[in-house]
Amino acid sequence: MIEIKNIMKKYGNGPIAVNDVTETMSKRVTTLIGRNGAGKTTLLRMLSTQLMPTSGTAVINGHDIIKEPHKVRNSIVSIPQEASPIGILTPYEQVRMYLIGRRFSLSDASLAARQALETVGLESSMHSPSDTLSGGMKRKMFVAIALASNAEIVFLDEPTTGLDPLSRLEVWSAIKKLDGNILLTTHYMEEAENLSDEVFLQDAGKIIESGTVKKLLKRFSGKIRVESQSPLDGSTMLGGMHILYDIVENAEKHVKNGANVKKITLDDLFIMRGVDLEY
Ligand SMILES: Nc1ncnc2c1ncn2[C@@H]1O[C@H](COP(=O)(O)OP(=O)(O)OP(=O)(O)O)[C@@H](O)[C@H]1O
Ligand SMILES: [Mg+2]
Repeated sequence: MIEIKNIMKKYGNGPIAVNDVTETMSKRVTTLIGRNGAGKTTLLRMLSTQLMPTSGTAVINGHDIIKEPHKVRNSIVSIPQEASPIGILTPYEQVRMYLIGRRFSLSDASLAARQALETVGLESSMHSPSDTLSGGMKRKMFVAIALASNAEIVFLDEPTTGLDPLSRLEVWSAIKKLDGNILLTTHYMEEAENLSDEVFLQDAGKIIESGTVKKLLKRFSGKIRVESQSPLDGSTMLGGMHILYDIVENAEKHVKNGANVKKITLDDLFIMRGVDLEY
């Protein structure tokens, strides 16, 4: 359970990265989405006690992040966006070392490390130096750390960025196996749809929408996205395409005219926010 209270972060003379956010996150998998620079990482870093808020606070599983950061740290694990392993250590050594740091006994740590690395599909490379792993394999190693740690809350900042589609599915299935509640960020809307019980949309530091994927897409119900090479009545140009939201009943007409018709996904929440389309 994460209760965020008027949290704010201003970087020196820089931007207000997180702007007066007050939210409760209590679902098993919560996903934070938002454009580059929206403030997702900043929020996650404050919640995981790595960055001091400028004002406001949050209570994680009953512990205040400012007054009781040690207690918060005992109940969470946080995998940063830019996490990189220690190159000379193998994944097995690294996961084990992390667990020993969390006061696992040597034998428990060894067992949990092996099991978690197998679960994320790293069984054949768990004894190779991390330097020799691909980017995706390194991401999986960090998910294994989260998996093995048995933390009550797991923070994952862009856990599947840069992974190939199959690796992404493997990481999703590993994430689904995590015991604790999870707060993750992603730019892959399919990932948000697949994993989340609740989604928070952050924009310019503020949370501007939240709810289940179903709720967020409700405003598009009965609609389709139409993409055409040529302008359509009421369309907006985006990425070299003319885009329009129209009712499902008009789908056939658009297809006959050579346009592409797409099912609504969370991507559309981004698209229509970015270009002020009518929907
Ligand atoms: N250490 C820092 N010092 C100054 N400004 C920062 C710092 N870290 C982030 N910012 C700024 O704060 C804002 C929010 O950045 P943040 O990294 O939290 O966004 P994000 O939503 O995680 O973006 P992305 O999707 O690209 O990872 C941006 O304007 C960024 O430039
Ligand atoms: Mg980020």
